[in-house]
Amino acid sequence: MRRVLIATSNPGKLRDFAGAARAHGIEIAGIPNLASLPTVVEDGATFEQNARKKAEEYSRYVPGEIVVADDSGLEVDALNDEPGVHSARYAAPDLHGKQPHEADANTDDEANNARVLRELKNVPPEKRTGRFVCVLAAACEGKTLATFRGTVEGIILDMPRGTNGFGYDPLFYFPQIRKTFAELSAEEKSRHSHRGAAFRAFLDWYDQSLHSSDACF
Ligand code: IMP
Repeated sequence: MRRVLIATSNPGKLRDFAGAARAHGIEIAGIPNLASLPTVVEDGATFEQNARKKAEEYSRYVPGEIVVADDSGLEVDALNDEPGVHSARYAAPDLHGKQPHEADANTDDEANNARVLRELKNVPPEKRTGRFVCVLAAACEGKTLATFRGTVEGIILDMPRGTNGFGYDPLFYFPQIRKTFAELSAEEKSRHSHRGAAFRAFLDWYDQSLHSSDACF
């Protein structure tokens, strides 16, 4: 079976990718010993910059393999698209007294969700629009081959709902099927999510590139 390595240690993301890849007959695996490799600092100003940086750096450790890295987050219109690239550290001011871009560790989902709820406290339902964004970069031996973007539009609730998923899923209401992302099964999430959309674009590109002369195909 063809194999693609994903540069993430987040089991929620791996689950999302594996669901979509199964239908294409592609095996998804994490990068071996990812935790022991030097951490890639996600200091880009855009999702694209961070995804490329991670894919390029990690692909150097596994020559001959396609490495996919993602950067993703929640953009809230009423918060000028924050948390955005700072989604994983949004609660840093609350927990560490530092701005998210200065923080050296992720903050936990509960604290991140609490900050979003606080920032949106007086924002009425019709103005609580936002989207999840996911950008994937596929790299081989230190070079980005292509990037893919997926988005999904939703509404930020005023309290969490559902227990599946991770991150901001319990606050993200998806009107199309009247559920939050934390109320979706893994299959439903991969069908509707930003990560699913970006990954399907990657899979189409991967199928079309199979006969390319690149060393990783
Ligand atoms: P990354 O690991 O730097 O891409 O950080 C992404 C952060 O954005 C995560 O820690 C979550 O807080 C949030 N996020 C991204 N995708 C999702 C999703 O599918 N559901 C919920 N939260 C997400």
